[in-house]
Amino acid sequence: MDMEVEEYLRPPEMEIPPYPPKVVTLATGGKLVIRQASRSDVPILLEAVRPTMKVERDFYDIVGARLYAELLGWYRHRVRDEFCLMGQIDGLLVGVVNTRLYSRDLGISLHTLATERGLRIGAHLFAAKMEYSFEYIGQEEVLITAESPIGFRRWMIEYELIEREGQHELGGATPYGLTKELYYKHKDRLVAGERPVPEELLAVAEKEIIVASEDDILEKILGAKRRER
Ligand SMILES: CC(C)(COP(=O)(O)OP(=O)(O)OC[C@H]1O[C@@H](n2cnc3c(N)ncnc32)[C@H](O)[C@@H]1OP(=O)(O)O)[C@@H](O)C(=O)NCCC(=O)NCCS
Repeated sequence: MDMEVEEYLRPPEMEIPPYPPKVVTLATGGKLVIRQASRSDVPILLEAVRPTMKVERDFYDIVGARLYAELLGWYRHRVRDEFCLMGQIDGLLVGVVNTRLYSRDLGISLHTLATERGLRIGAHLFAAKMEYSFEYIGQEEVLITAESPIGFRRWMIEYELIEREGQHELGGATPYGLTKELYYKHKDRLVAGERPVPEELLAVAEKEIIVASEDDILEKILGAKRRER
């Protein structure tokens, strides 16, 4: 690679503190480990996102395609100040979330994608990225938008987000703000999890990011609807 030109192409990067992993006990008793993804994890995360781009239901296609591009952009140093958290159950990847820091104070929430349904895994992952922005990075506000009705219910309604002027980075949609005050108002109800993650659990998560087969991912997302065909 021509590093001389590359230096001009790469956006600058802010130093941010790491996100300490946590474990959320799901309604089924399953243990969801939420931890930070590193840039080198991206190729494996892309494998899990790829099949979702084929699914129209619940807007997985647009969310999957955009998330794929954002993660690849981060991997290839073409997106500025992005972070990514992932959720794993027994090592299996079940969801991914990402955010871009517009500045020290302002976050731009990008995407939340869950490939295991019905357990609020997406909701826990979204809460974790807000926890990271407010409690570890120290941001004042995060701008959020929704691409699906489920997303609108989960974020705009559950967090009582405030409609803001202007355009969100995601296609110019209406931005909604989660302020630090609102985050702390809803924290006890919406942000779950315990730290530290027991050593054995963390070791399983860190040993391998397991990605389900494309068929299994489609089956999980489409559920009964797919079986009817
Ligand atoms: C939005 C999203 C992250 C929320 O994840 P989540 O909190 O784990 O929630 P689920 O998707 O499991 O369930 C959402 C609702 O659909 C229902 N549902 C839909 N399909 C389901 C399935 N196959 N199995 C079980 N429940 C299902 C759930 O019962 C739930 O109802 P509720 O809102 O009354 O609780 C997830 O739906 C997703 O990845 N969607 C596609 C991408 C997207 O829209 N991202 C957000 C962009 S703003």
